[in-house]
Amino acid sequence: MMKPAVAVHEPLRLTEETLSLLTWRIPDLVAYQHNHDEWWFAPLDDNLPIVRLNRTGLDMLQAMNGHTTVGALVKKYGATICGPDGQPGQWHLEHWALPTYSLCYYGTEPPGGHRHKAKWDLLLQQVREGWSGNEGFEGESHLEDFHQHELTDSGKDDGHFDLIETTVSHLFREPNDALNGLTYGRLLMKQLRKLGWFTPKPRVIVEVGGGLGYLARELGKELLPFEKQTIRYISLDITQPFLTLQVTRAKAGGWGGIGTRANGEWLPFKNNSVDLVIDNENMADMTPVKLIREELLTGAGTTPQHQEALDWIRRVRLPIGQNVPENVIFNLGPFRFVAELWRVLKPGGLRSRSCFGGVG
Ligand SMILES: C[S@@+](CC[C@H](N)C(=O)[O-])C[C@H]1O[C@@H](n2cnc3c(N)ncnc32)[C@H](O)[C@@H]1O
Repeated sequence: MMKPAVAVHEPLRLTEETLSLLTWRIPDLVAYQHNHDEWWFAPLDDNLPIVRLNRTGLDMLQAMNGHTTVGALVKKYGATICGPDGQPGQWHLEHWALPTYSLCYYGTEPPGGHRHKAKWDLLLQQVREGWSGNEGFEGESHLEDFHQHELTDSGKDDGHFDLIETTVSHLFREPNDALNGLTYGRLLMKQLRKLGWFTPKPRVIVEVGGGLGYLARELGKELLPFEKQTIRYISLDITQPFLTLQVTRAKAGGWGGIGTRANGEWLPFKNNSVDLVIDNENMADMTPVKLIREELLTGAGTTPQHQEALDWIRRVRLPIGQNVPENVIFNLGPFRFVAELWRVLKPGGLRSRSCFGGVG
């Protein structure tokens, strides 16, 4: 295949106006440390060469914390060599904010500007990782609150999943050549059949966190009407607008269409009552807790939630290791969820879980 040409962008001109803008580095940047004084970063356009930085370049990237202006960075690093390729800070400042690099953002407001309150910087940086430099970790109750209260008008179109929660199943909600002309849901149903999960047919299927409901619709379309007759397909979600869409689309796929608004960490079902649970890209949304070293070393939690996390760590014998960092984020929610699956699934019941990203 021919390599696509890189879109050519002139270096950014550092005008008076640009110099007064604040700087944010992009969240979730992956750094590869090549040696003690060299770190590599991939520009967004992977046809561009890797950006190689020395300690000074890394300092400059870290200084892009939403409080530092472009001008302040030019003053401090502009003339200093920032990496083994010899370019000074000025060169990097003229390139990193270009769309082809996308290593940082210059503006007066944090990046995002999405019409929902859930600007992606808030969602990704503050909620998941406390990235943006704000004091405190907002994850322990924030994710649940966010789904219950802040996504109120997100169910009206595909925007939220086009821009913020860009899942694989959402991307492949339409038939695609990469999936042999199938949708994600249809392909999943074919695979479930191949695995023998529909012989005998399940009686109760629960889909947890079904987003906009395309998966339910497409799974249904892959079965004949009589095959669905005796199956109850229950959509469970914490976000009401999504749940409403899930039920509508499940019906369009030929299911009866039952919805229940609940948190997957506490399933509202009796023991041994469900045959099949489908969960696609949800576990990274479940409750994280931020533990401190002291708690990990003593096994004593400072809150009941932290204690619950520490009890899980002990129960599943997760090795703590020698060099315990000051803080550790532990994804408690997925542990609760899997324990709940264990409880509600019938003996021999099955679950299909997939997560591309956070938790595997
Ligand atoms: C990242 S989306 C995934 C949507 C869909 N499964 C997909 O693959 O596109 C997460 C979904 O899980 C729901 N969700 C998040 N936390 C949840 C929880 N604790 N319990 C139940 N649903 C949850 C959200 O409302 C949303 O529908």
